[in-house]
Amino acid sequence: MARLEGKTAFITGAARGIGYAFAQRYLAEGARVVIADINIERARQSAEQLGDACTAVECDVTNQSSIESAVAFAIDTLGGIDILINNAALFSVAPIVDIQRTDFDSVFAINVGGTLFTMQAVAKHMIERGQGGKIINMASQAGRRGEPLVAVYCATKAAVISLTQSAGLDLIKHGINVNAISPGVVDGEHWDGVDAFFAQYENKAPGQKKTEVGNSVPFGRMGVAEDLTGMAVFLATDEAKYVVAQTYNVDGGQWMS
Ligand SMILES: NC(=O)c1ccc[n+]([C@@H]2O[C@H](COP(=O)([O-])OP(=O)(O)OC[C@H]3O[C@@H](n4cnc5c(N)ncnc54)[C@H](O)[C@@H]3O)[C@@H](O)[C@H]2O)c1
Repeated sequence: MARLEGKTAFITGAARGIGYAFAQRYLAEGARVVIADINIERARQSAEQLGDACTAVECDVTNQSSIESAVAFAIDTLGGIDILINNAALFSVAPIVDIQRTDFDSVFAINVGGTLFTMQAVAKHMIERGQGGKIINMASQAGRRGEPLVAVYCATKAAVISLTQSAGLDLIKHGINVNAISPGVVDGEHWDGVDAFFAQYENKAPGQKKTEVGNSVPFGRMGVAEDLTGMAVFLATDEAKYVVAQTYNVDGGQWMS
């Protein structure tokens, strides 16, 4: 049975990668999906591949008017938003002594500001509509502890876990469940870039970092986007209505908390 029949989901950063897999699975579960991405060409291609129940809208989560017009588009064309996945994010790698303020500002603007202000825009709509809702933020195992070359990204994902707790506690009185998913290492285009960063900073051969991280996962391999979709469906259903302000590790056994 389709578990998200009649629901509308707004997923940021779903033009590719994990967000795309969420869109695909939600559609299979009967939802209508809006892909909200800064890369509108890729978002349109993805929506076309995924079929008529999927629409693309341009959205830069660092820009307030862009968030508001994308959210308004989803409400106007689909009648409302039941589920938000705050998935758009940027990764960066640099030793502490090389971190640039511009890089810090842009990674925080997307990963933290984007999550907070998209959550705010959608929560206002959900409160006004009075039917509750589900908000899922994408955290990371990187938010559970620091890493030597990943200080900025780790700090942003720790902030996402914290925002999930505060928003979860604040919004549950409106019937809005806010929770987060914390993946470990998930193969895909994003990790091709990460592998290249580490090749530069740790003198590794192309592909070597991926092999190393995959071998270190207790499950025995890197994750793939589809490993996360079951949790994304569960958190979007009423089976999760008593789950509030939590961050779930879906990482093959890498982190326990
Ligand atoms: N891949 C992993 O190993 C991994 C691990 C832990 C957590 N995560 C988290 O999962 C989520 C998805 O990761 P992914 O690997 O699919 O990433 P990805 O880089 O493949 O996709 C990110 C998407 O976000 C979009 N985007 C970037 N800036 C944006 C902006 N300002 N406004 C709107 N959209 C924007 C991009 O166009 C892209 O479509 C992220 O939050 C990431 O931090 C990923």
